[in-house]
Amino acid sequence: MLYIGVDLGTSAVKLLLMDEKGKIRNIVSKEYPLFFPHPGWSEQNPEDWFSKSIEGLKELVSEEDRKNVAGISFGGQMHGLVILDENDEVIRPAILWNDGRTTKETDYLNNVVGKDKLSAYTANIAFAGFTAPKILWVKANEPENFARIRKIMLPKDYLAYKLCGAFCTDMSDASGMLLLDVKNRKWSKEMLDICGITESQLPTLHESYDKVGTLKPEIAKELGFPENTVIAAGAGDNAAAAVGTGTVGDGMCNISLGTSGTIFISSESFGVDSNNSLHSFDHADGHYHLMGCMLSAASCNKWWMDEIIGTEDYASEQKKIDKLGENHVFFLPYLMGERSPWNDPDARATFTGITMDTTRTDMTQAVLEGVAFATRDMYEIAKSLGVKIERTKICGGGAKSPLWRKMIANILNLKVDVPMCEEGPSMGGAMLAMVACGEYASVEDAAKAIVGVKETEEPDPELVAKYDVKYKQFRTLYPALKPVFKEITK
Ligand code: XUL
Repeated sequence: MLYIGVDLGTSAVKLLLMDEKGKIRNIVSKEYPLFFPHPGWSEQNPEDWFSKSIEGLKELVSEEDRKNVAGISFGGQMHGLVILDENDEVIRPAILWNDGRTTKETDYLNNVVGKDKLSAYTANIAFAGFTAPKILWVKANEPENFARIRKIMLPKDYLAYKLCGAFCTDMSDASGMLLLDVKNRKWSKEMLDICGITESQLPTLHESYDKVGTLKPEIAKELGFPENTVIAAGAGDNAAAAVGTGTVGDGMCNISLGTSGTIFISSESFGVDSNNSLHSFDHADGHYHLMGCMLSAASCNKWWMDEIIGTEDYASEQKKIDKLGENHVFFLPYLMGERSPWNDPDARATFTGITMDTTRTDMTQAVLEGVAFATRDMYEIAKSLGVKIERTKICGGGAKSPLWRKMIANILNLKVDVPMCEEGPSMGGAMLAMVACGEYASVEDAAKAIVGVKETEEPDPELVAKYDVKYKQFRTLYPALKPVFKEITK
């Protein structure tokens, strides 16, 4: 049988086809546009997600017997607000996870409603990218749109809705809405009241590996798939990536270097820290996780390579980097403001420490190191909460770079296990579809059977010590520049 994982990303949808043994048969990627209508805003058209996914599905199976497709599931960019009217039409472009327009609403939630209440209701506090502040933003700024809302959903849930008609979501993705009682896995009535919405406007809740429906007959026909092709709820992209890298069960870690950068720590029991510095969310394996998320990770390198240097040859640029731990240039990676750990939409990216002898290579190195230092910022919080790990998995586009993996290993002083396949969310999506179809009894069983490690990057004590000095210097930059960022973004 064949299983499909759909990773609904920010720059593209990636689709992965796998057989029941976990062998990857094909991977296809289809890009769609991303709009920045104002500085710090970020939007996409849900219709683009759907049309590109259908295009991708057709290409993915073009060499296969399509009658063998048994199930489809998803890993989707989290937190995005998708709203539909009474005719099931999309009311406005989706407001994405890295959109920073909700400063006012986030302040209201954290300071007027209060962090203690938010944490008691949802296990989290408000961050600009979360869904609830976006609902409040639409209510305040587009009341005519707010009045038309019949369905509120997350990006990947729009795909499931179009493919099978089920108005549903899963616990891991719902956790990032700030509307879910994460501990008890149900909607928080208090939060719905605060946002002025009702449960009937929200999708039904499922575990990620639940079957939520089968393909609509007309879509099955168009794709040539069996009509009983199972659609499983899927997960937020980070939880799906964790499944795809085998980060399930207790105390496992995954670092994702995608458009965003995340550190994800799985846990069998519910936990939340007193400062809510890390997100406390449900996991796609039926348990829980802690997560830190930086808004620009591999996207910093993409911006630097594509927009500034103007090259497509990332590997050649990185080959010239040979003095690790000695760079006098620093880069703050806040191209879209920052979520973890600063929760500051006004934060901005900067280079610091440039001198006459600074080279393009030093600056490229600074970009890669800046992302790794900011990942350590999140890891430091996890450590302060008593999380003890000595190794991590890694995935996402940035994980393809051996140099970047080496930086992560030495800046965080962690062993970095590189999975056989870096396509975390789409692989996780396919595995969730397998569990929904009964191929494996649980997500843990699927991970044990399918996920393998191809190599491990070991930290080198000498380099760890050098980078420790550099990290401490990096750590002084944001607090010093915070008032400047506030001033220049007024
Ligand atoms: C996680 C987050 C990002 C997006 C990226 O909280 O906002 O990782 O899910 O797609």
